[in-house]
Amino acid sequence: NSKILQDSFGREHTYLRISLTERCNLRCTYCMPAEGVQLSPKSHLMTYEEVFEIAKTFVNNGVTKIRLTGGEPFVRKDIPIILEKLASLPVELSITSNAVIIDKFIDVLKANNINKINVSLDSLNKEKFNHITLRNQFNKVFKNIHLLVKEGFKVKVNAVLIKGFNDNEIIDFIELTKKLPISIRFIEFMPFDGNKWDLSKMVSYAEVMQKVNETFNKNTITKLEDAANDTAKNYKINNYKGSFAIISSVTNPFCDSCNRLRLTANGQLKNCLFSAKESNLLTTLRSGNAIEPIIKKAVLAKLKVRGGMDTLKKLQEPQLHGKNRSMITIGG
Ligand code: GTP
Ligand code: 5AD
Ligand code: SF4
Repeated sequence: NSKILQDSFGREHTYLRISLTERCNLRCTYCMPAEGVQLSPKSHLMTYEEVFEIAKTFVNNGVTKIRLTGGEPFVRKDIPIILEKLASLPVELSITSNAVIIDKFIDVLKANNINKINVSLDSLNKEKFNHITLRNQFNKVFKNIHLLVKEGFKVKVNAVLIKGFNDNEIIDFIELTKKLPISIRFIEFMPFDGNKWDLSKMVSYAEVMQKVNETFNKNTITKLEDAANDTAKNYKINNYKGSFAIISSVTNPFCDSCNRLRLTANGQLKNCLFSAKESNLLTTLRSGNAIEPIIKKAVLAKLKVRGGMDTLKKLQEPQLHGKNRSMITIGG
């Protein structure tokens, strides 16, 4: 039973991302199809006890970090119990959220020692934000980012860049880090079911750095050391309180150092963000059987780069590689 989380390339999977719900209070167009997604029937979703059982098995086998995602994790009614249960495990617990209602959970977060929050925010322009999320929540999100910082949380802000839409805000985002001790992470737009991805809409790592180099004096830009297994390449402008980074899954995949597995809200294990194939842990758990053998098999089946979509050409023809989900039901 030893090392069931090591794959055939020697990668140790110590980071589990758990999607708690397929629902969200925003409708970001890069994350879900306009018509919405078919929600799993409630009986197919993990209960909080099942989330805990499965998480415990992963922790027993070497997982040291769990990130909760969604949909939007805070729309799940039993989120306080889930946090309390998971916080009892010897694991670093963090959350990725759109921050629309996170102000209601500050005490719960603190009580469970959760101090790192990643927040999605794709524009600093209210109209643009409302346009991409199809909801009028810019003010709440912006206010809540400040609230989180004030309350002492370590905040990373995720901005998915889309050409001609928000790529003119790269410098505005970086300027926000002058006073705010946050990390702004520019993310290369990735293809998922129903998100109308097109390579020409993606803003690359190189393009972001070109903009940065044009704007700031070379001596003021510092490359920071990236943590092992970090998704992001980190930089800062000297004397600014925060930092910025680029997540380049498309032009510079970081799969060699991948340590991530994903559990969907309906209890399916994905060995990669891009894997179309999934392993049903929930049904096995419910039938009273051990889930370790299924986990082991899924991890060993993990492919080297992006679930087999190792070239740009393959990313552009995802239908040939099996149907992946919409991002909203994977959790990023
Ligand atoms: P940290 O724990 O703070 O490093 O967060 P994270 O980057 O692992 O997670 P987050 O939920 O903030 O995701 C930010 C972006 O990175 C999203 O666009 C994710 O889809 C992407 N991302 C996260 N993990 C992976 C991964 O394993 N592979 C790829 N290709 N992208 C990932
Ligand atoms: N490409 C890149 N990142 C995405 N996210 C959601 N959809 C996409 C996509 N198509 C990001 C969001 C969120 C994180 C979990 O995933 O910014 O913060
Ligand atoms: Fe890991 Fe897949 Fe992301 Fe590569 S694309 S880093 S293998 S999850």
